[in-house]
Amino acid sequence: MLLEKRITIAVDGYSSCGKSTLAKALANSLGYVFIDSGAMYRGVTLYCIRQQLIQNSKPQVDLIEKELDKIHLSFKFNEATASSELFLNDENVEKLIRLPDVAANVSKIATIKTVRDKLVEAQRLIGRNGGIVMDGRDIGSVVFPAAELKLFITAVPEIRAQRRKKELEEIGVIITLDEVIANLMERDLIDSTRKESPLIQVEDAIVIDTSELTREEQLQKAIQLVKASTCKSSE
Ligand code: CDP
Repeated sequence: MLLEKRITIAVDGYSSCGKSTLAKALANSLGYVFIDSGAMYRGVTLYCIRQQLIQNSKPQVDLIEKELDKIHLSFKFNEATASSELFLNDENVEKLIRLPDVAANVSKIATIKTVRDKLVEAQRLIGRNGGIVMDGRDIGSVVFPAAELKLFITAVPEIRAQRRKKELEEIGVIITLDEVIANLMERDLIDSTRKESPLIQVEDAIVIDTSELTREEQLQKAIQLVKASTCKSSE
């Protein structure tokens, strides 16, 4: 699709509601860059786990802050999977950051202000020229408050949990539905009640409920919204 103005698209929502899947498909169909900001928080969490900076389930904030300069994150596009993969200090960690021990700790790490400041700065730099679809929790509210299009994705909890269980099985992680639900609920609670940039639905966001929609239907809906906002922003 050829669109003249390359806009910024913010996609926010609760855990596992289909944000990344939709954001990636939308970016691919527009020829835009897709950034999964959650992968960056997961990358920092993986580093903290490896360096034992989380003790008795508590992030050691002082120690983590001292290590922040040693954490280098970047995305590289994998042609075979048509998606960007996260590199932590030059190691491809795309699969490792999806594992349950990272999921169990990531929302705690994401409450740390200095971690958020570092990642938000990097995200703004990646998106400075527009032509980007970024998904996360604070993209429309904090990272790109002036984004031309803001989507807020929702889905009913059972569907979210079943989708996440299937995704995990695809990478060899066998986990019960109850365990998946517990993790999603815990992360939703931490993400929406934290002091620093909590997950909120901003006023100018458009809600897409993915519960009853196929991937193609979600994509078509999003493309319509892009067309509408591209016309509006070039008026
Ligand atoms: O894939 P899923 O929706 O389960 O989560 P994710 O997008 O990979 O994000 C993992 C965690 O990172 C979230 O639960 C948040 O705690 C944190 N996060 C955040 O605080 N801000 C963002 N922009 C993105 C993720």
